[in-house]
Amino acid sequence: ARPEDHVVVLFGATGDLARRKLLPGLFHLAKAGLMPQRYRIVGSAPAAEALDDEGFRAHARQAVAEFGRSAPEGPAWKEFESALSFGAADPDAPEPLVAAVGDAEQAVGGSPRRLFHLAVPPVAFTSVVDLLGSTGLAQEARVIVEKPFGTDLASARELNAAVHAVFDESRVFRIDHFLGKEAVDNILALRFANGLFEPLWNREHISHVQIDVPEQIDIQGRAHFFEGTGTFRDMVVTHLFQLLGFVAMEPPVALEAQSLRDEQVKVFRSMRPVDPAHVVRGQYAGYRAESGVDPASDTETFVALRVDVDNWRWAGVPFHLRSGKALAEGRHVVTLGLREPVLRMFPLDARAAADGRADELVIDFADPGSVTARFLAKEPGPAMQLGQGSMVFDYGSSFTTDNALEAYEHLILQAMLGDQALFTRSDGIERLWEVSAPLLESPPPVQPYAPGTWGPDSIEALVAPYRWHLPERH
Ligand code: BG6
Repeated sequence: ARPEDHVVVLFGATGDLARRKLLPGLFHLAKAGLMPQRYRIVGSAPAAEALDDEGFRAHARQAVAEFGRSAPEGPAWKEFESALSFGAADPDAPEPLVAAVGDAEQAVGGSPRRLFHLAVPPVAFTSVVDLLGSTGLAQEARVIVEKPFGTDLASARELNAAVHAVFDESRVFRIDHFLGKEAVDNILALRFANGLFEPLWNREHISHVQIDVPEQIDIQGRAHFFEGTGTFRDMVVTHLFQLLGFVAMEPPVALEAQSLRDEQVKVFRSMRPVDPAHVVRGQYAGYRAESGVDPASDTETFVALRVDVDNWRWAGVPFHLRSGKALAEGRHVVTLGLREPVLRMFPLDARAAADGRADELVIDFADPGSVTARFLAKEPGPAMQLGQGSMVFDYGSSFTTDNALEAYEHLILQAMLGDQALFTRSDGIERLWEVSAPLLESPPPVQPYAPGTWGPDSIEALVAPYRWHLPERH
């Protein structure tokens, strides 16, 4: 079904996220016929950065040309462009925005739904929400909120209170774009639509789980944002913990928002608070010399940690999480290590050959994604020699991915449809900050690592007797 008619208001319309993801994403939705029958998009920013309608259209055209999947041309672009307008908004001067939204609503006709997308820095967040409340624009409207949602439990609670003063939770869509990735949503299909995997998905059969999102890129000039944030807040509290929720959750009653999010939050409630002794914080050599970085900075650009989920399914199964900048490769991988069976029936040299070979399930959720079962197999030849075998499901070669949506496209569409299933909920977010508190209060010192490696050496000890899995590319 198509979303009902909409006026989408994009705060932070001149910012980086809007340029890279949101404007190109909205255009793609329009091209794919997924936007509402009738819609308008109103860009907004503080008066100092204000554009006029023509300026905003040119800005959007450039963004789509640079980052979009198809060029801004032809009838689809003309139609999309004609739906764009601009209204500046400052806390004490909201009039241009109110007028622009009014005009857009009139152009759509009837009583379209309002959707506010807050792609603004955290400091600006509360004032925008207040403005939406005081002008009455928030009435019946929905709001998409970007990460980071707070920096600790106290600030997350404050933000939730500020949002809830204006929007009740059923109208709040907190984005964690990892939940919009096709291959992440496939974790639900893999687990719950098959008889093959779910029976293994517990402490009886799985000895450890790894959630690994190394990045090759460095901070790419984002010192201002990164210095005060660090990898733990930027990647773990948001993306990796959310993924952990999908990997570890009990089967929801149904694939709808309340059931799904209830199960996710139950996982978060079962998580033991992060023990700083089970965390390695790293910083790549050269970080302190980057422009805008404090020469004595203690901000981590890498983090590896062990998380324990104390429930009936996972007790005793460590979850190893890792993410960092300037690492050897960029990957998005979940690995479930299977318990070692009794290999006694195999001859000694076959057992030795099995050493270091993997018996594991690997979910690669880099677009378009793959799932690989790696196991031991008999090598051809007269002797019983064990070697590495694998079975691979590859999205790209199993399906046509023409209809695939990028994470942001998928999530903006879901928000227009009013479906909160892939958005984080206030209690879940608060719980994750609560779980993170011991680490935030006493972080271990950062350890240096050379760019292009997998992080500080001490990460090996963190996961012993297991090891870090580095799956082959397919
Ligand atoms: C963002 C972080 O949320 O996610 C970035 O702020 C990070 O630091 C990015 O690079 C990774 O997203 P993806 O989809 O490219 O893995």
